[in-house]
This record gives sequence, structure tokens and C-alpha cells, in this order.
Amino acid sequence: MDKRYISVAIDGPSASGKSTVAKLLASKLHFLYIDTGAMYRAYTLAVINKGLDPKSESESNILIGKINISFDDNNHILLDGKDVSKEIRENVVADNVSYIASYKEIRLFLVSLQQEIAKGKNVVMDGRDIGTYVLKDAQVKIFLCAKEEERARRRYLENIENGRETSFEDCLANIKKRDYIDSHREFCPLKQAEDAIILDSTDMKIEEVVEKMMEIIKEKGIEL
Ligand code: CDP
Repeated sequence: MDKRYISVAIDGPSASGKSTVAKLLASKLHFLYIDTGAMYRAYTLAVINKGLDPKSESESNILIGKINISFDDNNHILLDGKDVSKEIRENVVADNVSYIASYKEIRLFLVSLQQEIAKGKNVVMDGRDIGTYVLKDAQVKIFLCAKEEERARRRYLENIENGRETSFEDCLANIKKRDYIDSHREFCPLKQAEDAIILDSTDMKIEEVVEKMMEIIKEKGIEL
């Protein structure tokens, strides 16, 4: 990794608030924000749209190198040039994304895209394997967690706000299922990097989490 550029890696379980705080942090720092979860979600959406079975690795692998996943200037995710930022948040994608994310070849395809996007830039990147694999030389690594019930509550409120049909129980079940699959897959499981700082956001407001992250960055002696 080019040491002239700064990378902030934020990993953690589902709905721990990574995307929300990572986005705010990146805008405070004037860094590029890269939401890797959105990329796994976009791949999952492509599999579903093409009528392939996300539970089948060989069927899902068919799209490797054949679809285009990118971000526009507003950080909206594009699938073959089309803005799919709303579609990737639908329940059907949330229900299937962890299968797709457990397939090694698909991960290698998306990881190389992620590293390409981050090349030669100051970035905040969030996901599950950023500090352990994608940007393992990142100067700042944070593992953001929160109690399961609180994460489910946040996701429930977020879904309601966006008009998505949902119940607290469904959110909790989806979070538990994804965390289980994400932590138990063979290749690049969700894991805290040895040199990551743990931040428990259960009782913290969004702004407090962002402030705490800014402190962590300053304590590392990084010149901004
Ligand atoms: O926002 P939320 O925490 O619900 O999840 P996300 O960050 O959008 O990620 C969706 C899914 O993509 C996760 O449950 C993982 O299965 C997968 N993922 C991954 O495996 N590795 C990453 N670096 C990012 C996401």
C-alpha cells in the first residue's frame, strides 16, 4: 500500500452503524467513502435479477467479470451503470447477500475492485474484512460493534423510515443469520483485526461515535 495515502478500515457485524458513521467520518476528513457491503448487495441483486440461485455457488459465479459494479460521484452504487441504491436495501437482497459473500471467487472479484477504487486515495472503507484482508496495512482500524437487540432496533427504524415492510423480529433474525454466516465462512470471515480498536456503539449517539473515531485517528498521530 502507498504510505502517502491514509486508509481508515471500519469493520463490524450487521447494522452496527458502520455505513452511517463511515460516511460522516469520510466527509469530515474529506476522504473517499467506500461501502463494500453495497458491492456485495449489488452482486446479489444481479444474481436475483438474472433468475440465478444465490444459494448455488456455481450459478452465482457465472456473473464474475460480466457485471459492472461502481459508484457515481454522489456515492450511489451502480450496477451496469444503473443506480440501484434503493433496490440493494430490499429484504430479498438482505436475505441472500451472506450466501453470495461466502463464495471465494466472488469475494476475489469484488476485493480487487475495492482495492482498485482505493488506490492512490485517502479512504474510509467499511465492511467485514477490510482491516484483515482488503486494506490490511490500513493506518487506522476500528471494529464497530453494538448489542444485537440494539442493532435490530436500528435496522427496524431505518426500514420503517424508508417505507420497507418489516418487523423487529424479522430484522433481528436477519442480523443473527448474516452474522453467523459472515463469521463462519472459510474465506475472509468477519473477524476483528489484531490491531483494530474496538468501539461499542450500543449506548452512543451517531455524532459521539464519529467524534470518538476522530480522536482515535488523532491519537495515532496522523496529520490531517
Ligand atoms: O449495512 P449492513 O451492516 O446490514 O450490511 P452491509 O455492510 O451492507 O453488508 C451486507 C453483507 O455483505 C454482509 O452481511 C456480508 O455478508 C457481506 N459483506 C462482506 O462479506 N464483506 C464485506 N467487506 C462487506 C459486506
